[in-house]
Amino acid sequence: AAGAAVAGLVAAGCGAVPGSISSVDEPAEFSTELTIPPLAESRVEDGVRIFELTAQEGSTSFLPGKESETWGFNGDHLGPTLRAERGEEVAVEVANELDEATSVHWHGMHLPPEMDGGPHQEIEPGGTWRPHWEIDQPGATLWYHPHPHGRTEEHVYRGLAGMFILDDAETASAGLPDEYGVDDVPVIVQDKVIADDGALELDSDGNEVGLLGSTVMVNGTVGAYHDVTTERVRLRLLNGSTARTYAFGFEDRTVQLVATDGGLLRAPVTTDRVRLSPGERAEIVVEMEPGTTARLRSFEPELGAVAAPFAVGANDSFDVLELRAASELAPSEPVASKLAEFGLAESDATVTRTFELDGRKINGQKMDMGRIDEVVEVGSTEIWEVRNVNLSPHNFHVHDVQFEILDIDGEPPPPDLAGRKDTVYLEPRRTYRLIMRFEDYADPTWPYMFHCHLLLHEDEGLMGQFLVVEPGQDPEGPPAGHGGR
Ligand code: C2O
Ligand code: CU
Repeated sequence: AAGAAVAGLVAAGCGAVPGSISSVDEPAEFSTELTIPPLAESRVEDGVRIFELTAQEGSTSFLPGKESETWGFNGDHLGPTLRAERGEEVAVEVANELDEATSVHWHGMHLPPEMDGGPHQEIEPGGTWRPHWEIDQPGATLWYHPHPHGRTEEHVYRGLAGMFILDDAETASAGLPDEYGVDDVPVIVQDKVIADDGALELDSDGNEVGLLGSTVMVNGTVGAYHDVTTERVRLRLLNGSTARTYAFGFEDRTVQLVATDGGLLRAPVTTDRVRLSPGERAEIVVEMEPGTTARLRSFEPELGAVAAPFAVGANDSFDVLELRAASELAPSEPVASKLAEFGLAESDATVTRTFELDGRKINGQKMDMGRIDEVVEVGSTEIWEVRNVNLSPHNFHVHDVQFEILDIDGEPPPPDLAGRKDTVYLEPRRTYRLIMRFEDYADPTWPYMFHCHLLLHEDEGLMGQFLVVEPGQDPEGPPAGHGGR
């Protein structure tokens, strides 16, 4: 069966042949203090909180004695953490100082499609863009990154990414550590290939999933430690890699998983592994003993029935971040035993759609900027039945909404997948039924995207577009001149 799948992929024209395994070089020591992305400054005008982001070129030393050309927002690499509260009006003044077009997509955000920052909202070199919207969703760890047509992998890989933290009353009262950069720590995990001269290489070396880098970093720091001063620390894990799937955990302790992509779980889940595919987030709470260290590690992820030639990178287990507890720790509140209430009812769903991911095609078609694939009525609840028919990994991300997983091959999802999600890893040959509700923003012109978040796959066509319209409204988009290239 594996052989047939390989033949199928090649026949489908994706051209990728299973290649060498890129394993991770574990840092010899964890002796560099973790860089904490600064909280973005903002100003409030007429009740709108306004941020500024400039995409720019820079250079960064990830490894001693090596200088890498990188891209960042408001700096050399990555971007500041944006933060806003539910109910706030926000605007972002984005400037593009790169030599090529880019865009900024607010991953996980519920907002009008024209503000979404997908491939239809590219910003030319020297150009600016000012999206604005109201934050109207639960507290969560979201992120932002470019989404230019066919160029997303490289833009993210070069360093254009940052966190977008949303706050609300429910999250504030969950008993979670919440001092940013102290006991509430952004952990953006990425892998890169750094050449001897420091150059960032973006060569997937024939790996079907895309690039698997030998250097793993957190917030751009390789071999990082973080000083812990409290009994509990909350890590906001973001898989900001282009292709690699991680399974985070510790050798010697379990953690409490408290939130996934779209916010709090119903109750904390005690677990020893948190699998995150590219684009997914998880918040975990780790308990520390005074004067001890603990290392966040990525273990071999369970990828499902992946054929051996495609299990590239799955054989890796490596340390990611060291936590160093002070000899005295300030007390932390216990995590609340109940966190959040939510739930979409299957009986409310009026439409079921099916999506088959195969090579670089969804339902037999590659992404076309000029084609609308699905038209959804605003206010409706839908079930999207998603299946990865390959024996190689994919995942699935939907813009604008947070969905819930109804079942996987008919079985209820495991507790770590029972929360609100915008991206889900698709184990090969299994069917994921996702339920989601499309609210507030009808627009017959500008589409949202759904796609695989393995960014090579996305760039090569594993993406589609949907419009959300008023009942009975005729779709008009995508706008003229947006036929792709
Ligand atoms: Cu994180 Cu369509 O993207
Ligand atoms: Cu994929």
